[in-house]
Amino acid sequence: MKALLASGGRGTRLRPITHTQNKHLIPIANKPILHYALEAIAASGIREVGIVHNADSQEVPNNIGDGSRWGIVITYIPQEAPGGLAQVVRLGEDFVGSDDFVFYLGDNMVVGGIARFIDQFKARKCDCLLTLAQVKDPERFGVPEMREGRIVRVEEKPKHPKSGYAVAGIYVYNKSIFEAVRNLKPSERGELEISDAHQYLIDHGKKVDFCEITGWWKDTGKPEDLLEANRLVLEHLEARLDGSVDASSTISGTVVLGSGSRVVNSTILGPVILGNNCVVQDSTIGPFTSIGDNTEIRSSEIEFSIVLERCRIHGVKKRLKGSIIGYDVEINETESQPGVHCFIIGDQSRVEVG
Ligand code: DAU
Repeated sequence: MKALLASGGRGTRLRPITHTQNKHLIPIANKPILHYALEAIAASGIREVGIVHNADSQEVPNNIGDGSRWGIVITYIPQEAPGGLAQVVRLGEDFVGSDDFVFYLGDNMVVGGIARFIDQFKARKCDCLLTLAQVKDPERFGVPEMREGRIVRVEEKPKHPKSGYAVAGIYVYNKSIFEAVRNLKPSERGELEISDAHQYLIDHGKKVDFCEITGWWKDTGKPEDLLEANRLVLEHLEARLDGSVDASSTISGTVVLGSGSRVVNSTILGPVILGNNCVVQDSTIGPFTSIGDNTEIRSSEIEFSIVLERCRIHGVKKRLKGSIIGYDVEINETESQPGVHCFIIGDQSRVEVG
């Protein structure tokens, strides 16, 4: 069994963060999204992993390296332009050969690992095992239509979904998927759709089975998904205080405080993770908040948010909530023009003032 991991695409729904960073490297609880996928793959016993990445960027290879950190061997497969997930599978054919493989979308996060899906694929002798998760908004996903406990159709982002399930981005295949992806035509949005490949398998009498994900699963495609994934990961945080907390501060709940970080006259309401070399002074942080390394927060309140590295947040009088703040951002109390807002923000940013 091998794994093919998708880390290409443009992440347009996560702009402006993705103007400067591949979406798969955005940290959730201070760890890049893609690392969670690699941990799950390594824990399942898979050793050979192909990573499809944007050909015009070495960001993913530079961050991930040769895989030895996870005890796996990585082959990088460049994709010239995002032509759809079935194209990603096509690109992986030489790497996969005639092995069975897990196709893992690098922006998906799942708790409980993937070994159970592989076991089920083997036990049921499937050609294709889809993982399904119940969702409130199936029209955002590939959606299965079920009849008598079997999948009879899979539609990509249907206007009128035939079930309340999403096909999650973790699939187990044998080599019959390569015949399917060779025989597809681009969809209306110009992509080779993985759902069409699944439909091809069903139409050609292949055994397409499924496994329901009963724990949590997230596609981190939109900003609110990142915040929700961050909340879910923080719920399983293990406390660790490497930095210093002064006597006038209060820490409650599960908190990670990185080395060299200082909490002064502040309240931290876990679950919260603070990276290394941060300063929190006269502030309240949490719950459900991740703060990256080398960030300073003074006289401010932040809840249910992700703040990336090297930010300065000073004197923000109203609580920041449900916010994602990129690298090297400064938010200051305006001194020269009291009572006004003053923004210098990049393209496609979103600000809500209350
Ligand atoms: O997350 C599950 C959903 O993923 C499925 O329910 C859908 O059937 C499937 O089409 C896919 O839908 P998305 O709209 O979420 O796909 P997205 O374009 O976001 O791409 C998913 C991942 O694959 C993401 O990690 C980026 C990567 N990718 C995407 C494309 C189109 C590539 O590496 N190359 C590509 O060409």
